[in-house]
Amino acid sequence: MAHTQFFKKKTIKDIDIHGKTILLRADFNVPMNDKSEITSDYRIIKSLPTIKYLLDRKCKVIIISHIGRPDGKPEQKYSLRPAYTKLQELMPEIDIKFSESTIDDSAKITCKQAVEGEIVLLENLRFDPGEVGNDMDFAKQLRLVSGADYFVQDGFGVVHRAHASTEAITHLLPALGGLLLAEEVDELLGVMSLPRRPLVAVVGGAKISDKIGFIERLLEVADTVLIGGAMANTFLKYNDNEIGKSVFEPGQEEIIKKIFKKAKPGQLILPKDVGVAAEIATSSQRRDCAINEIQKDEIILDIGFETMREFSGYIHNANTVIWNGPLGYAEIKQFAHGSEVLAKTISDQAGITSIVGGGDTADFVLNWLDNNPDGHFTHISTGGGAGLELMSGLKLPGVDALL
Ligand code: 3PG
Repeated sequence: MAHTQFFKKKTIKDIDIHGKTILLRADFNVPMNDKSEITSDYRIIKSLPTIKYLLDRKCKVIIISHIGRPDGKPEQKYSLRPAYTKLQELMPEIDIKFSESTIDDSAKITCKQAVEGEIVLLENLRFDPGEVGNDMDFAKQLRLVSGADYFVQDGFGVVHRAHASTEAITHLLPALGGLLLAEEVDELLGVMSLPRRPLVAVVGGAKISDKIGFIERLLEVADTVLIGGAMANTFLKYNDNEIGKSVFEPGQEEIIKKIFKKAKPGQLILPKDVGVAAEIATSSQRRDCAINEIQKDEIILDIGFETMREFSGYIHNANTVIWNGPLGYAEIKQFAHGSEVLAKTISDQAGITSIVGGGDTADFVLNWLDNNPDGHFTHISTGGGAGLELMSGLKLPGVDALL
């Protein structure tokens, strides 16, 4: 936990909310497989402290969330019911009701019938186009249906969106921050503003264009920025390396030029060797080679062992590490080595402050922790885009709008 407060808005701890009805925006946008089974319940688990805090104060809690991008109309595969089942499993002692509609009369009746100390979860907000449209009438319906006295924003993952449940609603109800939102802002801004140096950032994942603002900001605050993942391929190609059939992002030349210009000598480190294969398959044979030895028919799928050693050296000297984006194709064991070595190196280093962000990276680290239960990270963020925007120095509409 950060010790300095970077979250400047009022939270549920600043107001006497005893016995009130709360409209709680959570981010239950959890990953699911084709059988609609939740593959990571981390976001739901991280929502529990706020929910419990409210229930302990005898509040009636009406939870709203989105899941996926259903385009303004109901679609079974985007139902929040699996999230409801998970929440009930995690809080067996609490009576939780699920409303199959978001704002119609039946939702209103379900909310009205609930009593203090109970929870209602409304169906996916994005089944109505008013949510993404930041529509005031939709927000009015949410207030009416819930009968809420206060709005609480705890869906950190979605506060970079100006939607009805993050922005419009704050004009209709007194709007407070939840405990997860405050923790995320404190941790992520804390590490960018007052890091214990050396600060080493590790950036992976596929797209430079998604992370340009983040990388630029890192070049201002971090001592070293290590680049891996498919993103590194785009840098390698720019530097005229043969990258074979590897994924890269075309049209990024100007951005890369800007990044190289901004980086101080020795600040931005690219892979010196890579793990390659002929195809992306669980049966693929991994070959490690220097970056000037990649063949035309090969695909880069991980950083190489020499690069893992080099990256580990930087981590050993660091007091703070920020990690966003896997270093290879981590879904396949033989290409997960780079990310595994990084997770272990960070986790083994006593006293280090480690911040992990981004959906794929958080999922990777959480899975890694399942197999390495003694592992430790300071903060694993629930945010993807929201975390990147916050750490890039951008304002988040869903935070700005709060009291
Ligand atoms: C996320 O997963 O980043 C948030 O839930 C926001 O979802 P969105 O990118 O569909 O708005």
